This record gives sequence, C-alpha cells and structure tokens, in this order.
Amino acid sequence: MTVLEALRRSGARLRSAGVPSPEHDAEVLLRHVLGWDRARLVAEGPAPLAPADEASFLRLVDERGRRRPLQHLTGTQWFWKLELRVTPDVLVPRPETELLVETALELLEDVERPLVVDVGTGSGCIALALASERPDATVHATDISEAALAVARDNALRLGLDGRVTFRRGDILEPVGALTGRLDLILSNPPYVSMAEWHTLAPEVRLHDPRPALIPPGDRLSVYRRLAPAAARFLHRGGALAVEIGRGMEDEVRRELEGAGLQVTGVRPDLAGIPRVLIARRPMG
Ligand SMILES: C[S@@+](CC[C@H](N)C(=O)[O-])C[C@H]1O[C@@H](n2cnc3c(N)ncnc32)[C@H](O)[C@@H]1O
Repeated sequence: MTVLEALRRSGARLRSAGVPSPEHDAEVLLRHVLGWDRARLVAEGPAPLAPADEASFLRLVDERGRRRPLQHLTGTQWFWKLELRVTPDVLVPRPETELLVETALELLEDVERPLVVDVGTGSGCIALALASERPDATVHATDISEAALAVARDNALRLGLDGRVTFRRGDILEPVGALTGRLDLILSNPPYVSMAEWHTLAPEVRLHDPRPALIPPGDRLSVYRRLAPAAARFLHRGGALAVEIGRGMEDEVRRELEGAGLQVTGVRPDLAGIPRVLIARRPMG
C-alpha cells in the first residue's frame, strides 16, 4: 500500500466511524507516525508505506475510530505558541481558552513585574503561555489533581519554562495563602459543565477528558461561587480576576462575582461571538 492509499482508506474509515474531521485526523496520525511534515507527505505520497509504519498507523486509526481524542494519540496539543504534552490526566487545552491569555496580557500591560495565579491549571497551558510572554511576571498555578500538576511541571521543563511557574496542589487559592491581598491578577478556567450538558458532549470529551476537570461538585457555578470571595481576599485593591465561562453563563457568574464585592468591568466574546471571559476587579475604595 502506498502512503496516499493508506491515507485515503483511513480517512474513509474514520468518516464511517463518525469522526468529525476524518481526513484531517488521518493525515495528522500518519505524519505523527512517519515524523514527516506536510510537504514531504505530498512529495512522497506515491511511495510504499513500510509495513511497520503501516501497522502503527492502522492501530492509531483504529483507536481514533473508537473516538479516542487525536491529542491523546499524538500526545500533544498546540496552545498559544506552545506545543504542550497532554495525557488523559489533563483537559485538552481548547482554542477558546487562548482568549484568557490575550485578556491577561491586556490587563497586565501597564503592570511591571506582575504577581499572577492560575487556578485549575491542568496542563499548565494558561500559566505557561503567560510566563512565556511576560518574563518579568511571577506566576503561580494551582490544581487539586496531582496527576495534572505532574503533566504541567513536565510541560514547563520541556518548554524551557521550569522555574518560571510554581505549581502547587490544593483547593482554589489555598496553596498560595501567603499571597493574600497581594495579587495583581487571578486567572481561571474552572470546571463548569453540568451533568445534563455532559451527556450531550462528543465522546472524545465525555469519555476521555478527566471528569473533575469538566464537572464541578454540586452545580455548575460551584467553583466560581468559592473562587469569587477568595479572589476578593487575594487581590490587592484594583487587582483583576479573569475567568472563562460556558455558553449562557454570563449573568449567573456575574452575580457570583458581584455578590463577593468584585466589580465586573468587562466581557470578552470568543470567535463564535459567545461571551467567554468575564473580567472583574477588586474595588479601589
Ligand atoms: C476546565 S479544566 C482547565 C485546565 C486548564 N487550565 C485549561 O484551561 O485547559 C479545570 C481544572 O481545574 C482543576 N480543579 C477543579 N477543581 C479545582 C479546585 N477546587 N481547586 C483547584 N483546581 C481545581 C481540575 O483538576 C482541572 O485541571
């Protein structure tokens, strides 16, 4: 079988398995096995595929057909300008979460040597992206999952950002207790999926992203409800909190933030026009 034949057949197989981007995924998996870029794939498409490569490729296609996420099969996901390692212990970073990084950079534009915490860091994507853009920032990151923190620390090491982010295990801001009243910025993409919504998600997400990363204990506001008063204590006056929110959550999260004495100062829509990031500040007075 030639390289192109393998690609075509596997694309068709993934399509019949209901995979959303079958040809794309087949190509990514084949390039992952061969270690080739796109140009080489086009140039050497008519060449025969070595039997060992064919076997590895077909095994991955088979797993993808059973709806294992592409990122778990390649072990990587790009986020911001960073190629992160991802495993089943962390949420696969989503493109819309880059908006939180963009927002953070804007909020910190006039702040020298900012002190920042990322709550619920998962793969470390937000904290590491920020650290890579702002060499003067001191960045801390927390998560309740030790397994997720191991992935985040490994990402820091691989990206040459070790020592730039301090990763600590614990609930919300509890691991950084010494920073009470001192933070310039708190960032968080907390779990916010309800059980009812979870049942509607694609198998890749429902069966393979870690459930505690998606579904909070209690109702979908529960982490925001505890994060808001904690943020009001940890931020200095004028400091900011920026949180990612799910579809249709703007009003209810706004109420939680305002109920904790924070002032909501902005809402950022994602590329689909859905309000995705809420910004609030601890009042000056
Ligand atoms: C939606 S994932 C976000 C991961 C990553 N920040 C991202 O944007 O891809 C939520 C993360 O919060 C962590 N988490 C859940 N509850 C937490 C809590 N009470 N305190 C700290 N982290 C928590 C989960 O383990 C998970 O890694």
